[in-house]
Amino acid sequence: MCGIVGYIGHREAYPIIISGLKRLEYRGYDSAGIALYDGNDLKVAKTKGKVSDLIEKSSKEITKTGSIGIGHTRWATHGAPNDVNSHPHASNSGDLVIVHNGIIENYEGLKKELMARGYTFKSDTDTEVLINLIEDVKKKENVKLGKAVQIALNQVIGAYAIVVFDKNKPNEFVIARLGSPLAVGIGKDEFFIASDASPFLEYTKNAIYLEDEEMAIVRPGKEIKVRKIKDDSLVVPYVQELQMNLEEIEKGGYEHFMLKEIHEQPRAIRDTYRGRLLSNEGIIKMAGVEDNMKTFLNANRIIIIACGTSWHAGLVAEYIFEEFTRIPVEVEYASEFRYRNPVIYENDVVIAISQSGETADTLAAIKLAKSKGAFVFGVCNVVGSSIARETHAGAYTHAGPEIGVASTKAFTTQITVLTLMALRLARAKGTMSSSVFRSYLYELELIPQKIEELLKVDEHVKNIAKQYLLSTNCLYLGRGYNFPVALEGALKLKEISYIHAEGYPAAEMKHGPIALIDDRMPVIVIAPSKGHYEKVVSNIQEIKSRKGKIIAIVTEGDTAVKEIADHVIEIPDTEEALSPLLATIPLQLISYYIAVMRNCNVDQPRNLAKSVTVE
Ligand code: F6R
Repeated sequence: MCGIVGYIGHREAYPIIISGLKRLEYRGYDSAGIALYDGNDLKVAKTKGKVSDLIEKSSKEITKTGSIGIGHTRWATHGAPNDVNSHPHASNSGDLVIVHNGIIENYEGLKKELMARGYTFKSDTDTEVLINLIEDVKKKENVKLGKAVQIALNQVIGAYAIVVFDKNKPNEFVIARLGSPLAVGIGKDEFFIASDASPFLEYTKNAIYLEDEEMAIVRPGKEIKVRKIKDDSLVVPYVQELQMNLEEIEKGGYEHFMLKEIHEQPRAIRDTYRGRLLSNEGIIKMAGVEDNMKTFLNANRIIIIACGTSWHAGLVAEYIFEEFTRIPVEVEYASEFRYRNPVIYENDVVIAISQSGETADTLAAIKLAKSKGAFVFGVCNVVGSSIARETHAGAYTHAGPEIGVASTKAFTTQITVLTLMALRLARAKGTMSSSVFRSYLYELELIPQKIEELLKVDEHVKNIAKQYLLSTNCLYLGRGYNFPVALEGALKLKEISYIHAEGYPAAEMKHGPIALIDDRMPVIVIAPSKGHYEKVVSNIQEIKSRKGKIIAIVTEGDTAVKEIADHVIEIPDTEEALSPLLATIPLQLISYYIAVMRNCNVDQPRNLAKSVTVE
């Protein structure tokens, strides 16, 4: 959940680390810190708040020179977000410093042992315990830093990505990973360490991603040596050439990443089906599915595991898979699945969905499913992420980096991948005729163009948003394929605008939520013309007669809802099963504009982080 950056080489480290931390702020932003080594001494600045606060603080407190440094942006786990608990943390002697992303679960026991040996602690963090444990091992065993880190990590239970620096040996970093990502950018006589590759893209495209339980000693001018933490065996690292470019991780003229990412959806969906949806040939090609076709065709059941927005994409997929393939589908929160000893049959197929590919609960649920013999297929956005590596096969979403904390293009591209999979399997199983299949290919291919058209509702949505920005509650209703879209709409609103919102299947309203409706309650109803339209219109009437304020998402040309609703937003017509890809867009825009008008930090909502690598 935290972001870490390190630089060791011949350039000034400060600007590299600061701009790197800014790019990693999506991972956590409640405090930030930096340690620089200028050839003589270590200078540390850290503060509660964002990287911008760190810039201010370091300008006052430290000289910003030195070509070695480590930095951190934090999402607090142990210890409140304050200056003292911010990283980097130093050892008692002041010789060693560390930045850490993860949780040391047995830190309390280790802390007691260290205190009994005279160590003192300034912060409440598990990380300060780890750096003192490393110092203790180094002294006790009289070993070099690399060995001390290795011995200490073998005593630790939990998750980590760390960079450790010893000011008495200022030509190296010791880095290690278990459960939290760590990338190493390889330059000429210089190394960049970071939680993802974004901080070093303008300097090098060559990178190594450490695997779990690996560590390395990084020395400029020397080849990087990667070892297994447990048994010290050497590993030959795989040097990747990064495909990402800088423009993809910048705002590109938009006020916020979220708005940019909403507008990127046509491109992201096209990239996701490119090379897979071959409408001229009337086929879908997906390597991960083709290679495992037998397993999919023998599946008695599909279990989808995910969290948050990815879970909502899983719910949409439940409707689509069952309708198209007639394979029963269950959708589970990964955090529940992993702890409830689920029944998994031999012929079950598990699909894990995750934008980041690093969500701790989803990762643990995958490991559990694998241990019970299930075949696990991943739908991830981040290439080479832990989930992408942990699954037996998978399909990437090609959304490009999603930096706004609220997920937008990840959701629609996940639905795109899952729709392609369901269509491919439906043809293979013979549960869909070739003419229906072809009409879906045609319609799916048109979706990006329809979203482009739909995005023009921007001004209209802004005007609606203006009227509801002071609401304290909001209800989202949808049926069938659009019930999960109602859940997703409510999640978007609450996470970025802090307005309480609930999503419900429209027909469930009368079983409770209808009691909430009065003239101050905005109700957003997804009512496309295909799929239980008349029933949804009746639900809208029920809201109207209780004086609720109705914002309806309708198909272009709708007349019946227009007469009753306070506001309508039109979406282009499409197949019912594809309507979530369109209905989602105005809901994203409503949340975005309400949040902006409420002066909320849209890209970095309070208490949240993009990548939830803790449970
Ligand atoms: C909501 C949001 C979260 C994530 C959830 C899972 O906008 O972004 O709910 O969807 O934390 O994350 P991934 O998909 O990375 O596993």
